[in-house]
Amino acid sequence: MKLGVNIDHIATLRQCRQEGLPDPIEAAREALAGGADGIVCHLREDRRHIQDRDVKRLRELGARLDLEMAATAEMVKIARRLKPDMVTIVPEKRLELTTEGGLDLNSKFKIQKSKVRNAIQKLKDAGIVVSLFIDPVQKQVTEAAALQADFIELHTGRYARSLSLLELEKIGIAAQQARLIGLRVNAGHGLDYDNAKKVADIPGMEELNIGFSIIARAVFVGLKRAVSEMKEAIK
Ligand code: PXP
Repeated sequence: MKLGVNIDHIATLRQCRQEGLPDPIEAAREALAGGADGIVCHLREDRRHIQDRDVKRLRELGARLDLEMAATAEMVKIARRLKPDMVTIVPEKRLELTTEGGLDLNSKFKIQKSKVRNAIQKLKDAGIVVSLFIDPVQKQVTEAAALQADFIELHTGRYARSLSLLELEKIGIAAQQARLIGLRVNAGHGLDYDNAKKVADIPGMEELNIGFSIIARAVFVGLKRAVSEMKEAIK
């Protein structure tokens, strides 16, 4: 099981004082030293944590980079220029504390779907692998395949918050369905040292993207150790 470490909240801390510290690139190096298989960051429209320069420097670091972003013309342009290994398209709301749900690929607002379709096309043309962050719902999985995404990232937030076996089962069913129609599968959101293993055990799951719980643990034990403990937890 691969682990993508999301370093957004290192940048959140830095932005609190608008100084250069702590440096997300140094965090990425530590995460890799702890066994991270890739680095994940979310360049938000409001630039509340990760900045454009961070993404550029992460690219220069050469680690496998998964850039989370909204399907906007601005973000597509940035991604096509910086060429991360993967883009995960997420919905974005200005006032949310974190990504609240998956993309609605079945929205009655057709514009939403056409924005995503357009972004996928442009990113794939630039040689970037594209993943769609969706809820573990059959219709969303079918739509993701119809839009020719390479991967889906299944939103694990509901399971992580409730620890409900029903929610876990939904993730398992969505993963199985996705594999059958040719999609590759990642998962993430709200995963921690206790709840991640059950998601890691789902057949066909390739990578878990985890941020907050690792950064929170790193405050006490350091990032390298926090990452290696998570690698161990999801083995
Ligand atoms: N995956 C996606 C698509 C996300 O938006 C986030 C949060 O930035 C994560 C994974 C990581 O979530 P968490 O910080 O709760 O581990």
